[in-house]
Order: sequence, then structure tokens, then C-alpha cells
Amino acid sequence: MLIDRTLRALETSLHRDGLWGTARKAPRLARYLRARLRDRRWYAEWRAREAAEGFDRQYGTDTSAIVETFELGLTGPNADKAVRYEPAHVSDVERALAALEVDHPRTTLVDLGSGKGRTLLLASRYPFKRLVGVELAPALHAVAVENVRRWKAAGRDGEFSLECVDATRFEPPPGDLAYYLFNPFGAPVLERVVQRLVDSLAASPREASIVYVFPAHRAVIEATGRFRAQHEDPRFTIFHSLAPQRRGAG
Ligand SMILES: C[S@@+](CC[C@H](N)C(=O)[O-])C[C@H]1O[C@@H](n2cnc3c(N)ncnc32)[C@H](O)[C@@H]1O
Repeated sequence: MLIDRTLRALETSLHRDGLWGTARKAPRLARYLRARLRDRRWYAEWRAREAAEGFDRQYGTDTSAIVETFELGLTGPNADKAVRYEPAHVSDVERALAALEVDHPRTTLVDLGSGKGRTLLLASRYPFKRLVGVELAPALHAVAVENVRRWKAAGRDGEFSLECVDATRFEPPPGDLAYYLFNPFGAPVLERVVQRLVDSLAASPREASIVYVFPAHRAVIEATGRFRAQHEDPRFTIFHSLAPQRRGAG
């Protein structure tokens, strides 16, 4: 499996970037291989849990396979700060969404780094006003679009809107907000995303929450002084804005 994926990645890279381009990516590939070898046990457990939850089997979607960043051909200033695509486990998303105390019909849920769209699909079980996905990788965005199409073709609800854009360029929509982050990028990107949210809340005060799964860079959110941790779980933290109360936004 590991060898297969590595050879496939090499083949794609040689085809797309040539010998020199591939050689330049060698340190990244070596880091990836080292990490994968180290966490083989983690991967076996991850696959078992995926299989047990059976999300794609149940809904006819395509969300399960992990996609490494070097397989995505990401471009732009934040490509090297991106975390690979790894779908959230269903039970983790369910627990996080159940702990999110918001007025759903007033709130737009924004999954930053939405990948193949699994979190958005699960969130559609709640009566959110809108479900917005923001994804940097065009290939993942295209899969998410198809997953939403299948989801809706099966008669399921949800006001979905998918954008293929760098999260730092995403304009916070009006109305109450719940940002959802499954540790999608490094601190420099998160800083810009959170600052943009803080500025938007200052210009147009309204309720905002941030669900941060595996909150590796939570200090970035805390440093703004504009959010307080409202719910702590071993796998995620939910922050709520300290912004002034809403003035009928939405
Ligand atoms: C751990 S996955 C998140 C999975 C997803 N939220 C789900 O529903 O299962 C992280 C995702 O963030 C995306 N990403 C990384 N950097 C990004 C950026 N600057 N802007 C938007 N998306 C980004 C990656 O391409 C990847 O799909």
C-alpha cells in the first residue's frame, strides 16, 4: 500500500514536473515516507475505524481515501503550509457538532479546508442556514462537488455552497458564523484567516464560533483576545466570540 502510493506519487510527479521538479520535492517525499513508516500502526487503526463507520458505503460518496499534499499539485503562497486531506471520522464530527451551541437557522457553517466535503454532508443533518466549503485543492473541490450532487440526488437536504479558494482569501459571509477547522493549515495561514474574521466581526458585530479539531495552533485564536474557549474535548475545542451582541445581522 505504502509502496504503491509512493510509486504512484513519483509517476505523477515525473509526468507533471519532470525530473528536476521531482528531485526538488525529494525532501518532502522523504519526510512523508518517514512519517508514514512511523505511524503505520496509527494508519491501521485509522483504516479499521473508517471501515467500521462506513460513511461512503452508506451514502454512495467518495470521501474516504487520504490524499497527501504532494499528490495535489497545490500552488500559491500557502501550498507548503497545507495539511494533507484526511477525512474527519464521522463520530468526531458528530460529537463536535452536537457540542456546538448556535442558533442553527441563523448560522452559516464554514468548513475551512473542506476537502471532499464529508463534514459539510454530516452538518446538513442540522438546520444550518448555509453550509459553505472552502478548499484550496481543485481536485478535492471537484470531488466535493460530485459528493454534494450525489447527496442531494438521494433526496437529502442542505444549502451547500462550495468554493475553491485559499482560506486566506475567503470573505466571512454576513450573519452568524460557525467556522469549522480540522487542523487544515499552519499558524501563518490561521493567523490571517482569524484576523479576517475578527475584522469582519468588528465591522459587523454578530455571533461567531470556531470549532477547531486537533487545535495545534489554538494560541493564534487565543492571542486575538476576541474568543473564549467554550467547550473542551480531547479532540477539539470550540471557541465563541466575545464580540458585541448582534444587531439583527443575518
Ligand atoms: C484534514 S483535511 C480536512 C477534511 C475535511 N474538513 C473533512 O470534511 O473531512 C485539510 C484540508 O485543508 C485543505 N487546505 C489546506 N490549506 C488550505 C488553504 N490555505 N485554504 C483552503 N484549504 C486548505 C487541504 O487541501 C485539505 O483538504
